[in-house]
Amino acid sequence: MSKTPKTFSPHFFWGAATSAHQVEGGNHNTWSVWELENAKALAARALYQYGDLKSWHHTEKLATNPANYVSGRAVEHYKRYEQDFDLLEQLHMNAFRFSVEWSRIEPTEGAWNVEAIAHYKQYIDDLHARGIEPVMTLFHFTLPVWFADMGGFAKRGNIKYFLRYVEKVMQELSINVRYIITINEPNVYVERSYHAGEWPPNVRSKWQTLVVMNNLARAHNQAARVIHELKPRAKVSVAYHSAYIYAGDDAWLSHMSASIMQFVHDDYFLLKVYKQCDFLGVNYYRSYRVYGYRIHNPEFSHTDLGWDNSPDNIEHALVRLHDKYKLPIFITENGIADARDEQRQEWLEATIRAMLAAITDGVDLLGYLHWSLLDNVELDSGRWPRFGLAQVNYLTMERKLRPSAVWFGKVIKKLRKVDQ
Ligand code: BGC
Repeated sequence: MSKTPKTFSPHFFWGAATSAHQVEGGNHNTWSVWELENAKALAARALYQYGDLKSWHHTEKLATNPANYVSGRAVEHYKRYEQDFDLLEQLHMNAFRFSVEWSRIEPTEGAWNVEAIAHYKQYIDDLHARGIEPVMTLFHFTLPVWFADMGGFAKRGNIKYFLRYVEKVMQELSINVRYIITINEPNVYVERSYHAGEWPPNVRSKWQTLVVMNNLARAHNQAARVIHELKPRAKVSVAYHSAYIYAGDDAWLSHMSASIMQFVHDDYFLLKVYKQCDFLGVNYYRSYRVYGYRIHNPEFSHTDLGWDNSPDNIEHALVRLHDKYKLPIFITENGIADARDEQRQEWLEATIRAMLAAITDGVDLLGYLHWSLLDNVELDSGRWPRFGLAQVNYLTMERKLRPSAVWFGKVIKKLRKVDQ
């Protein structure tokens, strides 16, 4: 039986995503402290990490400069947000994902910063005034230093501090916010911070990895309850970093390994939280092709970070997640590091086609948020990877939509049937 081809619903959310630390500037949190301590080492390792990439000669100068690994004023989104929301309007977007920074809201344990709260209130009101749906993240990789000093999410007893912050944010900021992301990419946070030991607090322990993973699942489930108690109609989820992991040949071993890897990557965590999710927030960047028990991706194209460039595989990821969890899906991040804007438009075209195919296959897709609206601080890779629809000049802070973004804006306008 042939399926009826579907189009995007008129209510589909088209937007972009950011996170506080990566754009705001002037933050004091676990990452800002860590960057100052590690900038030199990060610059020194860049050659070994990225030196083999085709684009290396373009990035070498920035990537080997320690100053590029310190977030500092980032892209001054905290004070320039109105200008950035103008960009959303120029792109005909109707949704925007951002994170509120816990370390600003509660700079010392138990003390609330009324100025920061007032700032985010105004920020959210401004989005509403422009007809843009806010999608608010509560924890996007950065933590207050005091919370980390207490042991962060490695201690189960600390979850109560997170819940108190969640409650405060809900009381102060939730009036106009329907979509709430509790935790961004718990799997990436745990992998990089507690398994690989590359991100703060630089722990390398299988045991701690499991402990933190389980505590994050508890934190999400309990936070979702707090949120629903205060705001029954809120839609809550994590933003999960999913990947599509597939066998490259017919061998039994390749299929077996791919499905084990897929389980470890996605399902081990999602199974613990999906019952406390009203939808599934999915961050999607890459796929992995498995031969035997090894990953060997196609060689034909890479992003500036050396990631596999197969955006169309998002269709399979969406279908798999929808079939398994039976939840509506919101793509809460998707994008490409492409400083010269050579691949972004193709990436977007392929992604839009893949989303349509997934919708046709029955996936209940709520929206698409591109990572990112702006060039920003790419965590331990610093400032050289450029994910922005808008290019940012880091000296003048001037924003300029890239050609792919202008194209994307026109497509959104057409798909949303916007008049002017
Ligand atoms: C994260 C973002 C990050 C992006 C690109 C996601 O893993 O949520 O913070 O900048 O990927 O690497």
